[in-house]
Order: sequence, then C-alpha cells, then structure tokens
Amino acid sequence: MTSETKTETTMVGEDWLGIRGKTCVVTGAAGGVGASVALSAARAGAYVALLDKDIEGASAVAQEIVERGGRALALACDTTSEQAIANAVTRVEAEFGECSLLVNNAGLSRPGGLESVSLSDWNLVLSVNLTGYLLVARAFLPLLQRAGGGSIVHIASISSNYPQPSSGAYSASKAGVLLMSRQMAVEWGKYHIRSNAVCPGMVRTGLSAEFYAVPGVEQRRAAVTAVGRIAEPQDIANAAMFLLSDKSAYMTGAELAVDGGLSSVLMDMVPRPGYNDRGSN
Ligand SMILES: NC(=O)c1ccc[n+]([C@@H]2O[C@H](COP(=O)([O-])OP(=O)(O)OC[C@H]3O[C@@H](n4cnc5c(N)ncnc54)[C@H](O)[C@@H]3O)[C@@H](O)[C@H]2O)c1
Repeated sequence: MTSETKTETTMVGEDWLGIRGKTCVVTGAAGGVGASVALSAARAGAYVALLDKDIEGASAVAQEIVERGGRALALACDTTSEQAIANAVTRVEAEFGECSLLVNNAGLSRPGGLESVSLSDWNLVLSVNLTGYLLVARAFLPLLQRAGGGSIVHIASISSNYPQPSSGAYSASKAGVLLMSRQMAVEWGKYHIRSNAVCPGMVRTGLSAEFYAVPGVEQRRAAVTAVGRIAEPQDIANAAMFLLSDKSAYMTGAELAVDGGLSSVLMDMVPRPGYNDRGSN
C-alpha cells in the first residue's frame, strides 16, 4: 500500500463530528427542529436524551433511534418547571452517567400585538423560550462540569434580531436568548463549556404549519429568501451539529444565521425599477 492510499483510507474513516459516545440532551425533541437534532446526534453516534412535555412524541423519536441501533431516552419534562428538570437530570445521570452536549430548543409562540397581548401569554412565552433555556442549562451544568466541559447550543431565531410583529413576547424572548448565550459563554468558559446560538429563518414545522396551509404562502415565503426555499428542520440541525462538535472549538458566544439569506434580502425589498425584480413586483 502506498502512503497516498494509506492517507485516503484514514480520511474515509474519519468521524468528522467526533461526538460518538457523548451524551446529548435535546429539549423540545418531540418534533420539528428538536427531533431532527436528536436524530442527527444519534446518527453521529451520540447517546440522546429527549426532553419534551409531549412524551408521546418524544418517545416515538426515541424509539426510532433505538430501532436504528442508537441509544435514546425520552423524558416527560416541562422546561419551565425546576422540579421536572431536576428529575430529568437524575434520569440522564442514571442512564448515561454524564452529559457534555445540550441543545436548548423547546419553544412556542403566542399571537398578540404589544397593545393587547395578555400578561399571561407574554409571561408564558418568556418563561418557555428564555427562562426555560437558563433553567435547563444550569440544571445540567454539574454534569457538563463533571464531563470536563462541553457545548451548549441555543435555538434562537431570526426574530432575535428582527422584530416579529403581532407575536407577543416572541422576539423579545429570542433576543434575550442571544445575550444570555453570550453571558453563558463568558461565565462558563472557565469550565470549558462553550455556548452558541443558531438563528433559524423560516422552517417548516408544527410551529409554523398553519401558515403553510394557506395556499400560495409557501411560494411567497420562499421568494423572500436568497436560496428560494423554506428550511427543513435538518438544515437547522446541521448547524447545531457543527456547534456541538469540536469542529467549532474556537467558537463561543457566537450566533449562526441559518435563514437562507432572508436577513440579507432587506435592500432587495426596496423598489428600484430596472435594478431588481423582488422589490419592484
Ligand atoms: N419553525 C420556525 O420557522 C422557527 C423559526 C425560528 C426559530 N424556531 C425555533 O425553533 C425551536 C423549535 O421549534 P419548532 O419550529 O421545531 O416547533 P415545534 O412546535 O415543532 O417544536 C417545539 C417543541 O417544543 C416543545 N415544547 C414547547 N413548550 C415546552 C415546554 N414548556 N417544555 C418542554 N417542551 C416544550 C413542544 O412540545 C414541541 O415538541 C423553537 O425554539 C422555535 O422558536 C422555529
């Protein structure tokens, strides 16, 4: 065998992500982006704990992982409840011993303009989308510390940087996630824990299903992206996998936009007849 062939053999066998045998906790893993993250982590050889208030959905994804030869544990957990999260930590520790990867993803939205959104809806969105991320991260912190460090990925949104009108506290909650993620990066860097955020644009999931049920909406939404399509959950999971892995070892406190170019299309929305199609139609 020539040295060149030898090198090729080694390259083909590389475990690119390097998360095989690590434990990854994913919240909101019953469907949508979270299920895709859980399946991707399992495909890369990680052991996966799927936390969701929808235990049936989480169990179905866990079963799929196990049937395909992976290790997974589905846990009923409302990420706004410190007690429920503490129970999940105990179960993850008993099952897997340690945990070094966490994806904060459980989220929801409630309609309402700022003039009229009810205080209960405002508080619910903040408590799931922002406070829940903090509660889960700090409850699993001792396990990450014991593992010698790890990586936390927070699923934020394009709405972290651009207000999403008539969606109550959604944008405020997601903006909070970005700054909390950066604060976590600073405070927990000493534990060799990285904290990064992913900002998805438009993803086809249960959260947004009602919009796509309206005829023509998908095409109109696709038209305001640069790539000309809506994201699939896997598009978001791929970015999360990169941030979980040591391939992003020098990234912390960062945010990755995974929006098909939506956030760059702004100036093309301005009508400039003769110069652009998007804004002039
Ligand atoms: N779909 C999009 O277009 C889009 C765009 C940007 C960001 N995001 C974000 O991506 C993340 C995943 O959303 P999705 O689109 O997959 O939605 P989804 O509704 O399909 O999934 C959200 C999951 O979170 C779970 N969940 C909600 N509240 C919970 C709680 N208190 N405790 C535990 N689990 C809870 C739900 O049961 C569900 O399984 C969210 O944080 C969302 O804000 C989605």
